[in-house]
Parts: sequence; C-alpha cells; structure tokens
Amino acid sequence: MDRYAVFGNPINHSKSPMIHTLFAQQTAQDLSYQAIEAPINGFVTAMNTFFSQGGKGCNITVPFKEDAFSFAKELTARAQLAGAVNTLYLRDDGCVIGDNTDGFGLVHDLLQYTELTNKRILLLGAGGAARGVIGPLLDQGIKELVIANRTDAKAQQLASLFNGKGNINACGFTELNGHFDLIINSTSASLSGAIPAISSTLINTDTICYDMMYKAGMTAFNSWAAEQGAEIVIDGLGMLVGQAAESFKVWRGVTPIMSSVLTELRKTIK
Ligand code: ATR
Repeated sequence: MDRYAVFGNPINHSKSPMIHTLFAQQTAQDLSYQAIEAPINGFVTAMNTFFSQGGKGCNITVPFKEDAFSFAKELTARAQLAGAVNTLYLRDDGCVIGDNTDGFGLVHDLLQYTELTNKRILLLGAGGAARGVIGPLLDQGIKELVIANRTDAKAQQLASLFNGKGNINACGFTELNGHFDLIINSTSASLSGAIPAISSTLINTDTICYDMMYKAGMTAFNSWAAEQGAEIVIDGLGMLVGQAAESFKVWRGVTPIMSSVLTELRKTIK
C-alpha cells in the first residue's frame, strides 16, 4: 500500500486524512494517508525519515510551506511563483519534487460560483496565502487584480514579483475604490475574529466575497460582508478540497470528484 501524509504543526485538526481517504475510496486507489506533526525545528529530519521509509508523497501545511520549498530538489513553475510548497512527491529517479496546488484549489472553487474572465478582483492580504494564489488567478484572464494590505509596502512588494504577468496593482486599505466583482480575504484576521479594515462601500449585492478561512458557521469576514449586503459569501472549505484533489492527481494520475467529498466534509464541521 502506498504511503502519503500531511505534515504541519499543529496537525491534529487536519481534514486532509479524511479528504484523501474519501478520494482513495472513490477512485479505488490502494493508499494510506496520515497526519504527522513535525517538530518546529525538525522539518528536514521528518522529511528524510518519511521518504527513506517509503513515503511516496505528502502535503505540507502551516508553518512548513517555505521549508518544503527549500527542501524540494526541483520545483514546478507554480511552486516557484508561489514561493511555497504544499505538495511533495518522489519522482521515479528518487528526486523529491515540490509543487503548489493551493491556487488551483481556490480557482476551482471560485469557478463553481462565477466566471473569472474579465473580472476585477480584490485580494486582501500580502502574506504566503496571498502569494500562493496570484499566479493561478492571473491565468484566468481577469481584468485587474488589486492586492491591498494593512501594511501597504508588503502589497507593493508582492505585486512587483508578478510584474509583466498581468494587470496587477497594489495599495493600502484606505486607497481602495471602484467596484470589485470579487473580494478574496487571504489575511489571517479571521483567525482572531477580526476583519480587514476596508470600507463597507466596496461591497454591493453583486460582490462575491470569499474567505480562505473556514469554521463552523460563518467566518468574521463573511458575516460582515453579508451584513453589508453581499449575496454570495463563500468560505475556504472548497479550496481545501480543491488543493487536495490536485495533489491527489499529481500523485496518482486520477482526478477525484470534489463535490461529494466537500458535502461530507461540511457535515463534520457543522
Ligand atoms: P503568512 O505568510 O503565513 O500568510 P503573514 O505573512 O503573517 O502570514 O500574513 C498574514 C496576512 O494577514 C498579512 O497580509 C497581514 O497583514 P500585515 O502584512 O499588515 O501584517 C494580514 N493580517 C493579519 N491580521 C490582520 C488584521 N487584523 N487586519 C488586516 N490584515 C491582517
């Protein structure tokens, strides 16, 4: 039986073992998938142990995505652009390859609700979560991507990494104006129940709001957006299933059906 895992710290609440077990059942793949907590300063040792004991591939989550980027012997183009790795796999020649499927997961989930072509999109936040999704969003032929961050300079710096790759601009929260078709919250504000300090006038009934976080009930950002009149507010559970499905495809060569797994997963967080 081929062995896969997710590494993070902490890792006990990870949904990945459930998602991949459901994918494996659905596609009749013979594999095991477990959650493993790596010590904060012990990521490389954990990886060497896993791969030397026959591990075929793994997902990497907080706080090790940059460590995984450094650990990989080769990187896919999307991992290179993201500056982080959430998926590792052992190639036939023994080389460990680093990939990033987070942006795929977000875009796949968004496409269940709306087309992205020609849309004006606001991305809140300029940390690792934001960087991971910019390339795949630009690939959708959007009209403009504006990155806005509490610390303005970080947004400018992030946007500059994507110079020449699409219509991308950056600013602080107070300089935002005009109509956005979609607002994506990639900040960690929801973790503490906080909301990025953007003007409520940016949200209309037809503004789709997406929070990359999820929890039982609505996230702080999505509750606030709904109060401002947004009719469609989406949390990041579909993104989580989407990134997992793309990792599964990278490892096994088959794409699982995501919708039924998302429905099962949703039941467990209610
Ligand atoms: P990571 O790289 O792991 O995603 P990070 O670099 O700490 O983490 O990024 C977190 C993001 O959430 C940043 O964009 C941060 O804004 P700053 O760069 O100004 O710190 C944003 N963030 C966190 N809490 C926030 C809050 N209460 N309001 C607005 N933005 C917040």
